[in-house]
Amino acid sequence: MSATVETAVRPSPVAAANPARRDKIVAHLVRRVADAEVVDAPFQHMYLTEVFPADVYAQVIANLPERSAYRPLNIKRWHNARGESTRDQLFLSEGEVDRIDAAKREVWADMTSAMESEDVQRAVFDRLRHDVAIRLGCAQADVLSRPMYPSVSLVRDFEDYKIKPHPDGHPRTITMQFYFPHDESQVDLGTSLYKKRPLPYRLIGRPFEEVKRFPFLPNSAYAFAVNDCDERQSYHGRETIGASSGVRDSMLVMWLSSPMAFAARHNSDKM
Ligand SMILES: [Fe+2]
Repeated sequence: MSATVETAVRPSPVAAANPARRDKIVAHLVRRVADAEVVDAPFQHMYLTEVFPADVYAQVIANLPERSAYRPLNIKRWHNARGESTRDQLFLSEGEVDRIDAAKREVWADMTSAMESEDVQRAVFDRLRHDVAIRLGCAQADVLSRPMYPSVSLVRDFEDYKIKPHPDGHPRTITMQFYFPHDESQVDLGTSLYKKRPLPYRLIGRPFEEVKRFPFLPNSAYAFAVNDCDERQSYHGRETIGASSGVRDSMLVMWLSSPMAFAARHNSDKM
């Protein structure tokens, strides 16, 4: 199996449909990132609110793609008792914008172009540079000059989806997820951060302590630097989505330290 083989393939950047809207998204998000509170424990992360202009967020919600545009991420790993996928994904930055119905496509082209921009990348990396430097094994001063390869995807999680605490795998450097609920009724569906407990807890099958859970609120996002070393482990996960919770819509942006082929990422269990 070549599930984690890297190749030198890098997808072309997505062209904005409406450059003015794309620039507005970038400028607003860069400001929000700059204003966000960065928290250092259990590893460096931030939670942001009002990440997009209000009119853009309304367009995001109104133009969430139809389910047929998504693909099951990995049905062997993520499925319910009926064998149906519980995590679907649509890789916007890898040619899949075209899978979206033409009437809904433009906002996603602009969003993808904005997320792939150097301005957004620099804003996020600048805030998390302490832990990124650990990840890359470089000085904090060099974090912004390292080449990065953004990958943007839409994610849709369904009842029974869960993922145990894990740090994320190479070559991920920063993980950022934007939450897309319609209202505040899904507040409990956020991602949790964990720290590993001392050995006695691990021996009784309770190896992790939930440190915080981000609120799954409209127009919010979180970001953290990925690490899995003695100094830092970016353990995060999601408890089972219950029957009455509804669909969990979000956008995942990951910055990779090396290019990774579409098929490899699509099948990887560690990402
Ligand atoms: Fe993860």
